[in-house]
Amino acid sequence: MEKVIIAGGTGLVGHHLRKLLLENGHKVMIVSRRPGKDTQTWNDLDRNGIPEDTTAVVNVAGENILNPLKRWTPEFMEKVRSSRIETSKKLVSYISQSKSPPKVFASISGVAGYKPSPTEVYTEDSLVQDFDFLSKLVIDWEISSKLPENVKTRQFTVRSGVVLAGDGGMIQQLYPSYFLGGGGKIGKGTQWLPWIHVNDLAGIFHHGIITDSVNGVLNGVSPQAITNKEFSEALAKSMSRPALVPGFVNEATIKVMFGSERAKIILEGQQVSPDRTLKNGYVYKYPEISDACKAAVANFAIKRSV
Ligand SMILES: NC(=O)c1ccc[n+]([C@@H]2O[C@H](COP(=O)([O-])OP(=O)(O)OC[C@H]3O[C@@H](n4cnc5c(N)ncnc54)[C@H](OP(=O)(O)O)[C@@H]3O)[C@@H](O)[C@H]2O)c1
Repeated sequence: MEKVIIAGGTGLVGHHLRKLLLENGHKVMIVSRRPGKDTQTWNDLDRNGIPEDTTAVVNVAGENILNPLKRWTPEFMEKVRSSRIETSKKLVSYISQSKSPPKVFASISGVAGYKPSPTEVYTEDSLVQDFDFLSKLVIDWEISSKLPENVKTRQFTVRSGVVLAGDGGMIQQLYPSYFLGGGGKIGKGTQWLPWIHVNDLAGIFHHGIITDSVNGVLNGVSPQAITNKEFSEALAKSMSRPALVPGFVNEATIKVMFGSERAKIILEGQQVSPDRTLKNGYVYKYPEISDACKAAVANFAIKRSV
């Protein structure tokens, strides 16, 4: 049985990871900005460090980049950066200073460091490049999560694709337009959409926590590469709705909603392969987009409660 701390455990990924860990008999404590049940605040950790019996620490905290209610201002961009980098630095510092460091430290990052391309296939060994705000964020985020060499805690990082779930993330945002029969590809539709079902993302973290040989970078994407158009067709089919060409939410709407820099997350894409994730023995529950969409849609009405 592991005693796991999840920073960002109140969010979409953290909630599903917590649920999976509890189902598997582990103990979980959340780190949050707000106090709550089975929760420590960041201020608590600043004062006391991580509890000495902690065996695993996970960081999945971060200001929601695709919040349509937040404009892409310099202030918001700084919050997006600091909520990832400062939380990572804090956890690295608590672990480094702990008298009995945890066995494993796991963190999340994204696939935005792989430059969008129609032809390139990126694995964990591919070069991560600094070509825009988000790619630089991924690089700095991963650097800030690195433990010093003298700390013996095992470490791995999951570079996540777009997370598919019924209770948050992209499907929740798209659901109303698909429900009204206006869903469809966004932009050209030929752009790759690296994706993962939330249960598999939680599953990769769980597998990494309990498997002593897992370390380094794991791509948190499904092995099935799909385009934005193929995703829209699978989602529409899972909801017994048509996939329009284009849908209600077109390229121009996305640019107005998010600003052109953030819109790139949706309008451009890269093909990412989870080579190391598979080699490290993770078995996907939802390797096919049709099953992942069906599961997410079936879960849509279920409200999250931590
Ligand atoms: N969802 C995706 O498609 C996706 C894809 C790739 C990577 N990721 C990454 O995975 C992580 C988790 O994603 P998610 O979808 O679970 O996000 P989420 O639902 O928005 O939850 C993130 C959690 O981070 C904490 N947080 C938010 N703003 C913060 C701030 N300014 N300072 C400190 N903590 C803050 C919040 O916890 P408290 O309010 O309790 O403090 C929140 O519950 C993020 O870092 C995200 O970039 C997500």
